Amino acid sequence: MRVFVAGGSGVLGRRLVPQLVARGHQVTATTTSASKLELLEQLGAEAVVMDGLDAASVGEAVAAARPDAIVNQMTALSVAHAGKPNLRNAGRFFATTNRLRSEGIDHLLAAAEATGVSHVVAQGHASMNGVRRGGWVKTEDDPLEVVEGTKAINHLEDVVVRAGGAVLRYGGFYGPGANDDQVNLVRKRLFPLVGAGTGHFSWIHVDDAASATVLAVEQKAKGVFNIVDDEPAPVSEWLPYLAECAGAKPPRRVPAWLARLLAGEMVVGMLTEGRGFSNAKAKRELGWEPRYPSWRQGFRAELA
Ligand SMILES: NC(=O)c1ccc[n+]([C@@H]2O[C@H](COP(=O)([O-])OP(=O)(O)OC[C@H]3O[C@@H](n4cnc5c(N)ncnc54)[C@H](OP(=O)(O)O)[C@@H]3O)[C@@H](O)[C@H]2O)c1
Repeated sequence: MRVFVAGGSGVLGRRLVPQLVARGHQVTATTTSASKLELLEQLGAEAVVMDGLDAASVGEAVAAARPDAIVNQMTALSVAHAGKPNLRNAGRFFATTNRLRSEGIDHLLAAAEATGVSHVVAQGHASMNGVRRGGWVKTEDDPLEVVEGTKAINHLEDVVVRAGGAVLRYGGFYGPGANDDQVNLVRKRLFPLVGAGTGHFSWIHVDDAASATVLAVEQKAKGVFNIVDDEPAPVSEWLPYLAECAGAKPPRRVPAWLARLLAGEMVVGMLTEGRGFSNAKAKRELGWEPRYPSWRQGFRAELA
């Protein structure tokens, strides 16, 4: 197949492009920066510069590639695009990502229609953002909690599913280059357990997220899929384990009221009330099996 990966140079794109190429697909991958074209070529893709927020730029890139499928991995969460992470000012930090998940996906779908591309797969999100009611583990049928960082996700899911595509709600990424900042905070004991650490989190290794994406492309999957590992778990379990794997001292404990002052409501809500996700549908319908069924093996392997 000819596959167009919008955002091929990101943490996930860099793992996805080689997997698609290894399966015999012809890949066009995009970046906003000419300095990353060579990197994308080394991964085996035809590389193009594209601004996902510019309808003409998207239309031209898609028309030139004439793909069979489009994969959207555009976010703007790196320091280069969003500045230093500051979740107290989440509106500002997530502003461009929210635009990419609304205007950006609209431009891609318009380009798909204009070019006759029949299938689109897009990045969604399923880490701690299950609706904060009822059980701790959510399926695709449960609504998502809307926080600043995910406020455009419902739009993205609606338009992609209506266009006959698939939304892959990835868990929290770890693996090569994916959560170094988080691990550094844990090593410096600056990532505390907030309250009783009851918020649940779903994790996924970036290579497992990539392998699910390949399956969704090849099978022309339709609908929403949680791409998470087998073990959604409370922060009180995974955070001390992550610290141990990173060779750090156990995390400090901070009461919720103090964390609210220091880090803001969004962070405290996720760490104390977040809901994780089940991967049963992706396993059943895509035939996907993660290489790391749990963060327990994955953190250990990555941080060894
Ligand atoms: N589920 C999760 O946990 C999750 C999901 C996504 C990201 N993250 C985390 O967020 C951090 C940053 O992610 P990242 O390194 O992938 O960087 P990123 O800045 O979010 O970029 C991701 C991709 O989107 C592209 N992009 C950004 N702005 C664009 C625009 N206006 N038009 C078109 N494409 C655009 C980037 O291209 P260029 O930068 O090459 O221009 C890159 O290919 C990492 O720590 C990652 O693990 C986590």
